[in-house]
Amino acid sequence: MNKVLITGGAGFLGSHLCDRLVKQGNDVLCVDNFYTGNKQNIRHLLNLPNFELMRHDVTFPLYVEVNQIYNLACPASPVHYQSDPVQTTKTSVHGAINMLGLAKRVNAKILQASTSEVYGDPEIHPQNEAYWGRVNPIGIRSCYDEGKRCAETLFFDYWRQHALAIKVLRIFNTYGPNMHPNDGRVVSNFIVQALRKGPITIFGDGSQTRSFCYVDGLIDAMVLMMQTSQEITGPINVGNPGEFTMLELAELVLKLTQSKSKLTFQALPSDDPKQRKPDITLAQRDLNWSPKVNLEDGLKETIKYFKNII
Ligand SMILES: NC(=O)c1ccc[n+]([C@@H]2O[C@H](COP(=O)([O-])OP(=O)(O)OC[C@H]3O[C@@H](n4cnc5c(N)ncnc54)[C@H](O)[C@@H]3O)[C@@H](O)[C@H]2O)c1
Repeated sequence: MNKVLITGGAGFLGSHLCDRLVKQGNDVLCVDNFYTGNKQNIRHLLNLPNFELMRHDVTFPLYVEVNQIYNLACPASPVHYQSDPVQTTKTSVHGAINMLGLAKRVNAKILQASTSEVYGDPEIHPQNEAYWGRVNPIGIRSCYDEGKRCAETLFFDYWRQHALAIKVLRIFNTYGPNMHPNDGRVVSNFIVQALRKGPITIFGDGSQTRSFCYVDGLIDAMVLMMQTSQEITGPINVGNPGEFTMLELAELVLKLTQSKSKLTFQALPSDDPKQRKPDITLAQRDLNWSPKVNLEDGLKETIKYFKNII
């Protein structure tokens, strides 16, 4: 069994990862400063002997004994990462430095939850890992995009300079239970608006596309990535290549919630990518992974969760 540190463990993805690794019998240390995370997401684990929760901000050094680190700490939704952009960059960059330093000291494997946002507003479609991206370095999304790009740089420098066992996953839009109801991400937004019977907000004309991966599959990919041999470092894209326009997503949410909410249209935020779709050839080859849950089934589970909490 492994001693595992999960930073950002009380957040959406982190809480599912805590669940999975605790269930497998690992000793799990969840570290979070509760910036966007919620104790409710991990409350059911608190009394278990192989789970521990620590309130800590990863921009400060951490000294613990573990042999695997999953570095997820970072607000992921634009509403949250833009509300304190300096802290967002610090969390990505100082957080990566602190966690890489820890991994080096205790000789732990370390996985970085990177993002499709490193591709920015892409000129190639679908995006594969060889593409370097098109990111505005000074825009309102840059604190997140450039923070994550710099974190990747740090991971690869630790690998080249210190032979650290690194694993970098570029995660595309993922959704499911435990998402924050007010974080402004499109899936949670549409579901919450439909359930509250208010208008559904579409940015732009709704023709921009995204791909959506249900959380269970994403957690499978993270665990598989951690188990790969030393020479597999990534970056590896993980996500669902099924591509939907925002209008298609809104129609599906309306159908599944049986809501009569009307669609309203607002201007596109700046630097909003027009299309996103992962090329997952590498994940299929190196992790033998592809997503299994289709959008309709995943949305049904997510709607059940939001019905309960709102
Ligand atoms: N969900 C997605 O679609 C998606 C896509 C790409 C990448 N990611 C990455 O996966 C990770 C988790 O995303 P999520 O969707 O679960 O987001 P989330 O906001 O739900 O979780 C992030 C967690 O990190 C914690 N955190 C933030 N700053 C911290 C700090 N300085 N110190 C300690 N903890 C801190 C938050 O409190 C929260 O619990 C993030 O790094 C994100 O960039 C997620």
